[in-house]
Amino acid sequence: MAANKKLLMLPGDGIGPEVMGEVRRVVDWMDKRRHVSFDIEEDLVGGAAYDAHKTSLADATLDKAMNVDAVMLGAVGGPKWDNVERDARPEAGLLRLRKEMDLFANLRPATCMPALADASSLKNDVVSGLDIMIVRELTAGTYFGQPKGMQEYEGQERCVDTTSYTRGEIERVVRAAFELAQKRGKKLHSVEKANVMEVGVFWRKIATEVAKDYPDVTLEHMYADNCAMQLVRWPKQFDVIVTDNLFGDVLSDCAAMCTGSLGMLPSASLGAADESGRRKALYEPVHGSAPDIAGESKANPLATVLSFAMCLRYSFDMGEDADMLEKACADVLDAGYRTGDIMQDGMTLVSTQEMGEKVCAQLDKQAA
Ligand code: IPM
Ligand code: MG
Repeated sequence: MAANKKLLMLPGDGIGPEVMGEVRRVVDWMDKRRHVSFDIEEDLVGGAAYDAHKTSLADATLDKAMNVDAVMLGAVGGPKWDNVERDARPEAGLLRLRKEMDLFANLRPATCMPALADASSLKNDVVSGLDIMIVRELTAGTYFGQPKGMQEYEGQERCVDTTSYTRGEIERVVRAAFELAQKRGKKLHSVEKANVMEVGVFWRKIATEVAKDYPDVTLEHMYADNCAMQLVRWPKQFDVIVTDNLFGDVLSDCAAMCTGSLGMLPSASLGAADESGRRKALYEPVHGSAPDIAGESKANPLATVLSFAMCLRYSFDMGEDADMLEKACADVLDAGYRTGDIMQDGMTLVSTQEMGEKVCAQLDKQAA
């Protein structure tokens, strides 16, 4: 049984190892109480890998990632590596992993658990019950377009990043978003800047064509700047949003804050299905490595634990266990436990590890 649940854990930098430790705790719980065992390997990524191998993603690690059923990643980066050359930077390791595994569909759900509606900087009625899904294209666009970097131009230095998309790159992520919308609220917003960017015009055209295959889903087009505004004005107007790599990076941070804290948001990055229906997949919290609180047991592990729930659902077909785990996280919040990032008056402040223990205690209750 273990053989078909191969998991590679890449804790990474900053708070990465601490929050991943709590996923370990949940995995141990599942092992004991649900009799599901995972075949787990652990390796380095980001700055930790750079310190050990002078590269933020060793070939051997990439090799492992290509051959497991799912990868769980903590976070990468920190001031320690600010002066490292670009290609070896912690972020480059993560980008290489996404690109080589061809994880083009990045699912970033932003749901506001009722217990946290008051932790958001937005008004309670604007965010409570929020449930949206941002689908961010992850392997092309401005992050990877060529040319990139410094040039000589009319006698001075010039720097370029290139936004480029092929038809195939747009089509596959838009399809993935339509398929998700079909299983949700049947509404899809396709977001670009067709008023300014050629790529935006192309994106809009392809989204409109693809829509013909999904007549049950309502497609709306929206400019990215308007989308940012609408996300803080009335986020509940959205169901699924599909957008490019760069806009998706920005808009997902924005959507995250609607939910109360970046410390709550999981993500799944999925590749195309092979003949057997299996997809390469990487799960990671949307938050970063938070070097300012690293090693202090202050980090909120819920985004990473919820990423593991997505892993159970999408990679291991364990929807029931995923539901249990998501419910356990919500129950812990309902019971008043909070890490610092979501702390409110009258609640009980807990450490990273205590939060993990509380989640397992809630799992115990459900299993009883
Ligand atoms: C994210 C992060 C990354 C990105 C960084 C760490 C490279 O901000 O996953 O949103 O820009 O994609
Ligand atoms: Mg980001």
